[in-house]
Amino acid sequence: MNLIKVENYQEMSQRASSIILGLISKKSNPVLGLATGSTPEGMYQCLIKAYEQGDISFKNVTTFNLDEYVGLTKEDANSYHSYMKEKLFNHIDILPDQTHLPDGTARDLQLECVKYEQLIRDAGQVDIQVLGLGLNGHIGFNEPGTPFSSRTHVVELMASTRQANARFFNGLNEVPTQAITMGIETIMESERILLLVSGEKKAPALARLMKGDLSEDFPASILQRHPNVVIITDQHAC
Ligand code: GLP
Repeated sequence: MNLIKVENYQEMSQRASSIILGLISKKSNPVLGLATGSTPEGMYQCLIKAYEQGDISFKNVTTFNLDEYVGLTKEDANSYHSYMKEKLFNHIDILPDQTHLPDGTARDLQLECVKYEQLIRDAGQVDIQVLGLGLNGHIGFNEPGTPFSSRTHVVELMASTRQANARFFNGLNEVPTQAITMGIETIMESERILLLVSGEKKAPALARLMKGDLSEDFPASILQRHPNVVIITDQHAC
């Protein structure tokens, strides 16, 4: 794992966006794996800026998001569909048909998971998968205990994860109890992984990732096995 330490959140966001822009300018049909949460917001702003300056077009880019809450419609302000539109898609020239997130309102959630896996397979391979790091080591919504061999699946969110994400909702009771997430094996099949870690709160999780054992109790530890991981972290997290 290649650890890049930078001064602050802004620098982390810029470095991350340069890596993404590098891929888009080199590859004719790049496939990006995207994440939500607070951490990648700055990176999305940098990508929007590059687009507005005319440096880049996203017309040939395909995206797959890691996860979506179960039970929230695409239009719900707290859905990851809405997050992606608001934070990135509405501000760039990406083709809506080429952006993908699991449908958390699908009648048959298991079937939705199978379909999502198939869509990723049809696209070839995710070139760069962006990841944030949960306080408990989750990646996507793969909570501690998730088998490393998991594919896209429905998860029960841990109380601590719901608590951590409650800040986006009007209260803890509004935070969904389930989500659909890409599995750990699905994530590990990406060509490259770009993990962003920012802020003091994430320091223990980052330390465990760097120095701890490989264990399903700490999902991010699987990244130790991936041949091409870049971690960008600010001073506070390390
Ligand atoms: C959420 C998301 C993850 C994200 C993580 C960290 O639960 N499902 O994909 O990486 O939390 O979020 P944040 O960046 O807000 O700390």
